[in-house]
Amino acid sequence: MSAPGDVTECAAWKSLVAHPGAPHLRRLFADDPDRARRWVFEAGDLRVDLSKHRLDRDTMAALVALARQMGVEQRRDAQLRGQVVNPTEGRAAAHTALRAPADRSIVIDGRDVVLDVRRVLARMAAAAVRVRDGVWRGATGRRLRTLVNLGIGGSDLGPQMAYEALRSMVLPGLECRFVSNVDGADLAGALRGLDPAETLLIVSSKTFTTVETMTNARSARAWLAEALGEEAVADHVAAVTTNAEAARQFGVRPEAVFGFWDWVGGRFSLDSAIGWSLMVAIGPAAFGELLSGMRLIDEHFAAAPLERNVPVLMALLGVWYSGVLGAHSKAVVPYSHELRRFPAFLQQLDMESNGKSVRVDGRPVALPTAPVVWGEPGTNGQHAFFQMLHQGTHLVPVDFIGFARSHHVLSHGVDLTGHHDVLVANLLAQSAALAFGRTADEVAALGVEEDLVPHRTFPGNRPSSVILAEQLTPSVLGQLVALYEHVVVVQGMLWGVNSFDQWGVELGKELASSIVPALAAGAPIDGLDPSTTEAIAWLRARR
Ligand code: F6P
Repeated sequence: MSAPGDVTECAAWKSLVAHPGAPHLRRLFADDPDRARRWVFEAGDLRVDLSKHRLDRDTMAALVALARQMGVEQRRDAQLRGQVVNPTEGRAAAHTALRAPADRSIVIDGRDVVLDVRRVLARMAAAAVRVRDGVWRGATGRRLRTLVNLGIGGSDLGPQMAYEALRSMVLPGLECRFVSNVDGADLAGALRGLDPAETLLIVSSKTFTTVETMTNARSARAWLAEALGEEAVADHVAAVTTNAEAARQFGVRPEAVFGFWDWVGGRFSLDSAIGWSLMVAIGPAAFGELLSGMRLIDEHFAAAPLERNVPVLMALLGVWYSGVLGAHSKAVVPYSHELRRFPAFLQQLDMESNGKSVRVDGRPVALPTAPVVWGEPGTNGQHAFFQMLHQGTHLVPVDFIGFARSHHVLSHGVDLTGHHDVLVANLLAQSAALAFGRTADEVAALGVEEDLVPHRTFPGNRPSSVILAEQLTPSVLGQLVALYEHVVVVQGMLWGVNSFDQWGVELGKELASSIVPALAAGAPIDGLDPSTTEAIAWLRARR
């Protein structure tokens, strides 16, 4: 597909730039009694409230026109068909094939990849059941009770986030631990207290070459071999990779290697074999529900008219906030302790995808791209950074995520319903406080001393989306993941960048590999910049 045109050349963009200021959200709501219903959308089981954005009808119309003028529908269709949309690597980005219905056909390089996906899913499920049922046992005949996933970036963030989110569904007696950091503290902490005889290592790496993962994998393997003997290792390792040969050389049996494909980007890979640890933990049926949830949103994305297409609308809002209103940061605040790793997952998804300053055609981008994505679960974030959101000088749109029901119970019949009411009330309160604020007059009317009034005034007009669902189920989690995947991809289309490569991580990796040998006492320190050279000398003197 040809490179998209420059978004700033679109008539719709020009009209958005010419009319950046809608009235205050207070006024928008006062003038339009229907606003609280009109701009609430449904995507799958998600209720997505976009009414508290600084939008009037003209702005919304111009945003939708922008998507049309930028060919978002055609680009979406090309991506969903499996066409090459990652030209710098000559690849498709067909992660939607990972959850496509069995009767759908998506052909890449002459192969129906849906068939390939189904075959791997079946193998993953069979192996997951063998672990869960205690058929796949360790070398000493003991059940495998702990899975240690060794991976980083997309080979860690997705499964770890989802495991935490769905922890209540994990098979009793089974546990997953996730090791990503090459800092030995991570591996040492994860293996602490584990019995190698009951441990299964899962080396998760698309390439099987990532330094952090392979360093951790070798050390974890040595830990196993030391305890159980070299011949026991094969009973205790599995691999998830596109590089089956490297996994075999590592000592993984072919039946314990679960493959995926170069058309699955790391940050889009939770629902590939990269999710195998999760599948073992929650079971193939629940993993299947996660895939069905993703599919629901894919269908919405593919078919909903742009005016009601939630990922497209969210993407448009983000591009508008950063390009016109100067909001270069975005907070994501799940009011769900179980979703506490969701912001970290989104950081990679968004910033590794769209943190680019050249367009697909090599020219500089015309607008600021990926926002700085950050967040913490509510209500914790309220006691950390919400002061800045309410009264600071930065404009930071917020995505609130919450649920109607929770399912937490304490033993001895202690009821936790009250917790959930407080949690949800806080979500709604924060979104309202950001939008509507409290004026100086209102503050004064409360009897506040005059000199304190400016300090206690809330300007409001601070935008947020409120995404609600009934309950955090595997399906709903899949829907949230797919929603944000599509938001990120559409934003890439609008900015004209390639959302599927990540050359920006390469230089640091390369330099690190030349610095490692230079850290050894007496080794030459050649060819490095003066700052790094001095730092190495300082470190060497202290090692
Ligand atoms: O951070 C760069 C990156 O290539 C990510 O895109 C990827 O998710 C991560 O490293 C891990 O890569 P791999 O799965 O090949 O080990």
